[in-house]
Amino acid sequence: MYKILIALCIFLIVSFHYAFKVEGSDDVISDEIIIEEPEKEKSELAKLMDKIDLNYKAVEEMSGYYRYKKKQWKIVLKSGQNIVKVTKTVRRKFSKPDDWTYQELMEKMQIAAEEMVEIAKNKDKEGALEDAQWQVRLLRRTCAKCHKHLDIHIYPQLYKKKPKELPSTP
Ligand code: HEC
Repeated sequence: MYKILIALCIFLIVSFHYAFKVEGSDDVISDEIIIEEPEKEKSELAKLMDKIDLNYKAVEEMSGYYRYKKKQWKIVLKSGQNIVKVTKTVRRKFSKPDDWTYQELMEKMQIAAEEMVEIAKNKDKEGALEDAQWQVRLLRRTCAKCHKHLDIHIYPQLYKKKPKELPSTP
């Protein structure tokens, strides 16, 4: 009788041990799958857009400020310059002559960024802060309009945290 119980105990211990081992190795396998999942290769245009996005976010973050210090004006200047530069590249490399809306919005994005640079250079003028923030809004409108035009749904996802900031549909 005792022998049977002891045998049962051993059996249970062994099977628990085995069960844990299996679970453990399962974890390893799923980890491996996650790690080894290949990253989707981004198009060159997408990479350029990421750069625009980074610079845009830098100025967008400050849109609630009621005063810009020297540091913030520098961000406006730099971001504006960067967006101009990248947009020029995009317009040269990824122009779509048969899509007038796309072409126009690209140009508008460049103009909005150029304006930002101008305003930052004249930061001591009256109303410069309001002008800068207005320009950021114009910039955002070009992003939203073009993405909507092309049915790109990246934007709402990117700004999920701030629903009231979602680009309004004109
Ligand atoms: C005139 C059109 C146009 C304008 C304006 C525009 N975009 Fe885009 N955007 C695109 C296109 C086209 C793609 C898709 C690129 C691809 O996946 O190849 C894209 C994709 C993106 C992506 C996703 C990139 C990725 O990692 O896949 C982000 C982020 C983005 N845009 C941000 C912005 C921001 C921020 C602005 C405004 C400051 C903006 N875009 C303005 C056309 C535009």
